[in-house]
Amino acid sequence: MRESRVGVVGATGAVGTITLRLLRERGYTNVRAFASERSAGSMLDGGIVVEEATPDALAAGDLDLALFSVGTSASRELVPHAVRGGAIAVDKSSAYRLEPGIPLVVPEVNGARALEHDGIVANPNCCTIPLTCVLKPLHDAAGLRSLRVSTYQSVSGAGARRMEALLAEPQAEHNLVMDWSWDGDETDEESKLRAETRKIMELPELPVSATTVRVPVLVGHAEAVWLELEEPLSPDQATELLAAAPSVRVVEVPTPRDAAQTDDVLVGRIRRDRASEHGLALFLACDNLRKGAALNAIQIAELLLDRVAVQNDRSLV
Ligand SMILES: NC(=O)c1ccc[n+]([C@@H]2O[C@H](COP(=O)([O-])OP(=O)(O)OC[C@H]3O[C@@H](n4cnc5c(N)ncnc54)[C@H](OP(=O)(O)O)[C@@H]3O)[C@@H](O)[C@H]2O)c1
Repeated sequence: MRESRVGVVGATGAVGTITLRLLRERGYTNVRAFASERSAGSMLDGGIVVEEATPDALAAGDLDLALFSVGTSASRELVPHAVRGGAIAVDKSSAYRLEPGIPLVVPEVNGARALEHDGIVANPNCCTIPLTCVLKPLHDAAGLRSLRVSTYQSVSGAGARRMEALLAEPQAEHNLVMDWSWDGDETDEESKLRAETRKIMELPELPVSATTVRVPVLVGHAEAVWLELEEPLSPDQATELLAAAPSVRVVEVPTPRDAAQTDDVLVGRIRRDRASEHGLALFLACDNLRKGAALNAIQIAELLLDRVAVQNDRSLV
């Protein structure tokens, strides 16, 4: 049983729902659910009644951990209040990801950075998390020189309402879209992928070119990745490294359906990139609501909570 006092802020959303489920599965018993005024008072699976996420409620000092999945502007407003109340906040929006001094963490890749937090740890974008899990062992072995990626992102990445909209849409109207905001000639998802990958991998100059696409799939993001390495690395060597990497599972052909409701990043189609020297091409798929969001945030929190528990044990000696 885990006794930390946890607040899930955004508990009625696509990510919040999975966060509550994972916390239950992991034995957390002291969990509260927060959302906007709209859903305050409603009861969720497991009998938890939703509380309104007001600044006062979050700053009351009765939370050890606040897991936020409320969107960027609400996070900007609310996260500082939870921190003021003494909670560690793990925020899944893009509000703090690129802020200097705020760690942006994938535990398997740069977990030690989480310990540098000053109250807030940022959880990366749902495509950046699986991508960096796969890049890390290859970079450690052969040095990453450049990266190209094309994404196939499910509608759950855009929230619970978009999932309902897809289910209601006639199949003949399903389409591929690029439904993000524009940042010059790129989507902001494409520039986030570049900036976040550089920050997590600590490769500030890494050339990254991305095309992000929304596909009519409910859950599970996939990515086609082409990477150029400093040193030669054969597909067999890459496969061996990836098979040994934490949270990564090598399969023949990764699909969103196989990845959905699992914790692993599936990677396959590992082959030579015929268009570049020392190039590799591969394909990955991951559950964007789990490792792409809720699970990664809980893993970050557990790194920090375990650390606090060790410190408390030491102070008792
Ligand atoms: N979906 C993904 O795959 C994914 C992956 C990584 C990161 N994220 C990030 O996680 C965040 C949430 O995503 P989502 O897909 O779960 O969205 P969602 O399904 O639309 O859920 C949004 C949640 O935030 C709550 N909320 C909205 N405005 C609020 C406010 N002003 N105060 C308090 N609560 C508020 C909503 O509560 P009500 O029900 O009361 O409206 C709902 O619980 C976003 O920042 C997103 O970028 C999502």
